[in-house]
Amino acid sequence: MTPPSTLRPGRARAARGASAVAILALVVSAAAAIPAAAAGSTLQDAAEDRNRYFGTAIAANRLSDSTYSTIANREFNMITAENEMKMDATEPNQNQFSYGNGDRILTWAQQNGKQVRGHALAWYSQQPGWMQRMEGSSLRQAMLNHVTQVATHYKGKIYAWDVVNEAFADGSSGGRRDSNLERTGSDWIEAAFRAARAADPGAILCYNDYNTDDWTHAKTQGVYRMVSDFKSRGVPIDCVGLQSHFNPQSPVPANYQTTIERFAALGVDVQITELDIEGSGQQQAENFRKVTQACLNVPRCTGITVWGVRDTDSWRASGTPLLFDGSGNKKAAYTAVLDTLNNGVEPTPTPTPTRTSTPTPTPTPTQSSTPTPTPTQSSTPTPTPTQTSNPGGACSAALTIANAWPGGYQGTVTVRAGSSAINGWRVTLPGGVSTNNVWNGVISGSVVSNAPYNGSIGSGQSTTFGFIGNGSAPGASSLTCS
Ligand code: G3I
Repeated sequence: MTPPSTLRPGRARAARGASAVAILALVVSAAAAIPAAAAGSTLQDAAEDRNRYFGTAIAANRLSDSTYSTIANREFNMITAENEMKMDATEPNQNQFSYGNGDRILTWAQQNGKQVRGHALAWYSQQPGWMQRMEGSSLRQAMLNHVTQVATHYKGKIYAWDVVNEAFADGSSGGRRDSNLERTGSDWIEAAFRAARAADPGAILCYNDYNTDDWTHAKTQGVYRMVSDFKSRGVPIDCVGLQSHFNPQSPVPANYQTTIERFAALGVDVQITELDIEGSGQQQAENFRKVTQACLNVPRCTGITVWGVRDTDSWRASGTPLLFDGSGNKKAAYTAVLDTLNNGVEPTPTPTPTRTSTPTPTPTPTQSSTPTPTPTQSSTPTPTPTQTSNPGGACSAALTIANAWPGGYQGTVTVRAGSSAINGWRVTLPGGVSTNNVWNGVISGSVVSNAPYNGSIGSGQSTTFGFIGNGSAPGASSLTCS
């Protein structure tokens, strides 16, 4: 399979900085005087330093507004077409595709060194009229053809696609939203994901929705169950998009980070895809800070996109929900986001965003809150860490259960060197542990050995690896380390 289009945060900034460093080296004879990297002065630079992207939605007809395009170019490195890649825009008549405005945004992004999120291949809303009038197997075929054609047109150029948008119902059911697509059979979502993967194997494939930010909400749980089911059956899903449209009636939930953590623990990336928060001043700034920090606290939260540039560009303009005012001035919310990106403590390790399933969140000291229990969540067993004796002085290993949920758990193993430094380690997982998702280690059978970068441990020092276990978390048991 073609490797995914990976964002390599930090590279662009490093490249931009390289010429400055070269000039400096010519001018300043004392090379040692070159200072350490400064904090990022734009959202994209600061986010890159945290191995994340920072994006915005772009409307094609605003690109000719120089205030708009200057801010967009300076601050953001991920671009979403606000409307131009939707079904009604790209297939206005059946089998007649129209990519003019979508391509305009793509080209602008590419010319300015940015990546693109595709939005959205299949959705109950913004369907062209001809599709709205269809049903049954002909609609199913038309939808799959649309997914295939559009994903093929943009093949290799899209970082991540919102393959399916807003398929779950609001309210307490936790079930699917009724729509003409849903009535073609509830497997339409996985069919769309399979078609998207076949058409563009390099794109990260996301399920995207709103009101899925609060972990306790039935809708969030419904999406969680679907993603969990897809992962267990091998349906090609790589990511969950949290739209995150907030206002006083739908505020940033206290358990927002928990939601991100739980989805990430399923082995998918989490992307904040349409962030806007109605309000003003310091209160709005604090809400933006919370969202940014929550993403930074979870390694698999790979980026944030705000849904527009200036308040006046927003679909909710009267709520002034964005980071720049109508004149293009930076708001307090902007400063809060930038400062949070620059000042937060880096979780370790931070993976490169990718649709593969390797890195999964490792709880870090910066995680503020204990994950909020949910109605569907079993109690979280946390066995006492068990540590092997260390007869040869080589190493010891201790298992803790960081998190558990019905049908799975997240284990963390601390590997500690004995009285001598070690160079390479192997830990045997307890009998009965079943996992196909290990990070910071390489699994073979029941043995996890060091990754290329964490085999050397100084005497008395430690490293950790993590895994997602299937089934029930094990109780206290010995781990052998050699
Ligand atoms: O461009 C036409 C204009 O020519 C016409 O005069 C005018 C008359 O109403 O309509 C203009 O099109 C509007 C378009 O935005 C561009 O401004 C559409 O009516 C309007 O429906 C459309 O709204 C978009 C909305 O999705 C449609 O569902 C918003 O811009 C867009 O921000 C919004 O984005 C959605 C995400 O796709 C999914 N998540 C929710 C988010 C907010 O609703």
